[in-house]
Amino acid sequence: MKTVTSDVERVNRRNAELVLSGTLCKRSQCHTLCVGSGLVCFVSFVEMRYPLGHCCRMDTLEELLTCRLDFGAKAVEPCSIIIFGASGDLTARKLIPALYHLFIEKQLPDPFRIIGFARREKSEIAWREELYAALQQFSRTKPVDAAQWQTFSANVFYCQGDFSDTASYQKLEQQLAQFGHESLRRNLLFYLATSPSQFAEVVERLHKAELLHRHDDKAWWQRVVVEKPFGHDLPSARKLNSELTRFAHEKQIFRIDHYLGKETVQNILMFRFSNAIFEQLWGRQSVDHIQLTVSEKLGVGSRGSYYEETGALRDMVQNHLLQVLALVAMEPPVSLEAESIRDEKVKLLKSIRSLHPAQVPIHVVRSQYTAGEIDGNPRLGYRQEPKVSPDSNVETFVAMKLFVDNWRWSGVPFYLRTGKSLPLSASEVRVQFRPTPNVLFAAQCGPKLDANAITLRLQPNEGISLRFNGKIPGATMRLRPVRMHFSYNTEFGAYTPEAYERLLLEALSGDATLFLRSDEVETAWGVVDAIRTGWGSAPLSEREFYPAGTWGPAAADDLLAESGHAWRNPQPIT
Ligand code: BG6
Repeated sequence: MKTVTSDVERVNRRNAELVLSGTLCKRSQCHTLCVGSGLVCFVSFVEMRYPLGHCCRMDTLEELLTCRLDFGAKAVEPCSIIIFGASGDLTARKLIPALYHLFIEKQLPDPFRIIGFARREKSEIAWREELYAALQQFSRTKPVDAAQWQTFSANVFYCQGDFSDTASYQKLEQQLAQFGHESLRRNLLFYLATSPSQFAEVVERLHKAELLHRHDDKAWWQRVVVEKPFGHDLPSARKLNSELTRFAHEKQIFRIDHYLGKETVQNILMFRFSNAIFEQLWGRQSVDHIQLTVSEKLGVGSRGSYYEETGALRDMVQNHLLQVLALVAMEPPVSLEAESIRDEKVKLLKSIRSLHPAQVPIHVVRSQYTAGEIDGNPRLGYRQEPKVSPDSNVETFVAMKLFVDNWRWSGVPFYLRTGKSLPLSASEVRVQFRPTPNVLFAAQCGPKLDANAITLRLQPNEGISLRFNGKIPGATMRLRPVRMHFSYNTEFGAYTPEAYERLLLEALSGDATLFLRSDEVETAWGVVDAIRTGWGSAPLSEREFYPAGTWGPAAADDLLAESGHAWRNPQPIT
């Protein structure tokens, strides 16, 4: 790339002056100066480089400092989105609100169509009304803009059909044919929000109806988005993978883990690999241990029958917690391509030391909540929840100590825990650094001298904190931990798109980075299955219960205490 440094510096100094003085950088000025300066525009005062075209889009200081990675992203092409299981909760609570927001933010293609496919008999109008009522309740922006909804919902259709009935798929095909525009008939996103037992059948029937072609065609595309749970153990996940890939290429299958759609989870890669200072500390030489907590205040509520089949290990650890762990601990990918990132995640998951059944009681704690109190309100025990067996042995809390047997993390414990009916809803990763050598301040203060930590607060109050020690001002020599905190809200405002918005958009544009590949899902099941084998069919012992509103059983504390560690509970941030 050719650069003319003096011109470039002049451009940037001028840009910075305009911005800092409160005057926006005028596009025409910027353009002329950049063209005159050669092919590259340097923002020299922060030592960042931008290609010429990008320079011309910078209007504010933030933009001057912003490095855009998505200029090469493919535009979303006109298409139809077909939601199977459309009368379920997910459609009304998550999918339609997400699509509506993408629409008002002009991120959906033009034209687009949405078809809800479900068994229940209902008219299009009735379905739209139902969705509108739900949107008013679940929309992240309120009030819902009635005019926008009118325009959006004119693209929303309903197809009554039975998943196992060939004629229903013909009906769907006819409905698509009526849309006229070829892209609306041939670019198709099939969203499986059905019960997992129906995934394979729907995909097979779509294929037989010639709506889903198994190819990676450049001209037209069909993709299948699959909701969790993806299987209930390794054999069932393998079976499902092989059933789906008979009718759709792996590249056409988008397996959802909604945690990957969260901004803060995506930011883990940026935080690690766009900052030299942190990455250098990221390994056994500096890190003492890592804690990952995903706590929920809610109990199982009305999801008793689902939860009886899953429990915390399959519901949360197999997917969300292991995904976060993979992002926190993986090696740098060779590129930002989906496959490179997914390759590294799989490598990491494969490095998790497998637990022999005899080691499970030593490394894993399971527990179930009993009646208790949260925020002053009485809470039912799990066994008293609707649709839960009164002698259920399903775990609602799990804590574990894992090791990642690779060069970087050898010997560093990773503590994971998740549970329902805990005192606080919060997800965070705490990277606890090694203590200083036992001289100087450490020798004087002993264990009172706090070791440094970085906390990635995934939700709520999203942010990143660095904890270190500082002198308390005054004539006496006193130290205490202080915190440097980056808050998304303060820095970027309260823009918190729902995970499903991002995931739907990525699926529409065909980028699989935020979705799980078959080997990723299978490797994660391997980790979880080993634990379940260790548990066997043994009922919960007396020690394996915790009152709602507490941070789990004492055994979870003992798990860390034996290595001289202690859980750091997420703190409410007000
Ligand atoms: C889902 C689980 O996948 O994730 C739920 O099935 C859990 O049991 C939920 O409550 C947690 O998601 P979030 O985004 O609220 O942390």
